[in-house]
Amino acid sequence: MKRVAILISGGGSNMLALVRDMDENHPARPVLVASNDPSAGGLAKAAALNIPTAALDHRTYPTREAFEADLAQHIDAASPDIICLAGFMRILTPGFIRRYEGRMLNIHPSLLPKYPGLHTHARALAAGDREAGCTVHEVTADLDAGPILGQARVPVLPGDSEETLAARVLTMEHRLYPAVLRRFAAGDRTPVLLP
Ligand code: GAR
Repeated sequence: MKRVAILISGGGSNMLALVRDMDENHPARPVLVASNDPSAGGLAKAAALNIPTAALDHRTYPTREAFEADLAQHIDAASPDIICLAGFMRILTPGFIRRYEGRMLNIHPSLLPKYPGLHTHARALAAGDREAGCTVHEVTADLDAGPILGQARVPVLPGDSEETLAARVLTMEHRLYPAVLRRFAAGDRTPVLLP
C-alpha cells in the first residue's frame, strides 16, 4: 500500500478528488494534507475526513529554505511514498525537489508545455486557443516542465471568460488527477489521456 501526502494552498477540490478515489481497491491511501496557508479551505475538508493535516504559514519563516525545512519535517514524519501537489502555489527550491525526486506529482491548469506559471486560462483566451486543458506531471527542478503523466482536453467555447474556462478545466482536473495517481501508485507511468 502506497502512502500519499497532498500539498494544497486553497480550496482543495483536487485534494478531495484524490482522497475520494482512494477506496479499498486503490493502491494508495492519504496520510497527510499539508498547506502553506493555515486558512486554506481544504484543511478543514481533510480533517473532516480524518486525514492528518499540517498547517504552516510560509509568511512566518525568514527564508524559503526555512519554510521548506519545516514542511519536509512534516512530510517525512508521515513517511509518504508519493507527494501530490494539488493547487500548491509556492515555488519549491531545487533542494526540496531533489529530496522527493521521482515521487512528486503536480497538476497544472494548462496543456503543458503551453502556459507554465500563472494565469493560464487568461493566456489561452488571449491567444485565441480553440482548446484548453490540464496536465499532471512529475515535478522536476524546471517549473511545470517535468515528464508528463497525463493530460485532459476541453474545448474553448465562444463567449468563454477566464471563470467559465477555469470551471470547465477544473471538472477535468478532478477526473485526470485520480486516474494518474491510480496508475502511478501501481508503478505505471504511461500517460493518461482524457477524454
Ligand atoms: C487548480 O486549478 C490547479 O490546477 C491550480 O490551482 C487550482 C487549485 O484548485 N494549480 C496551479 O495553478 C499550480 N500552478 P483546488 O484547490 O480546488 O484543487
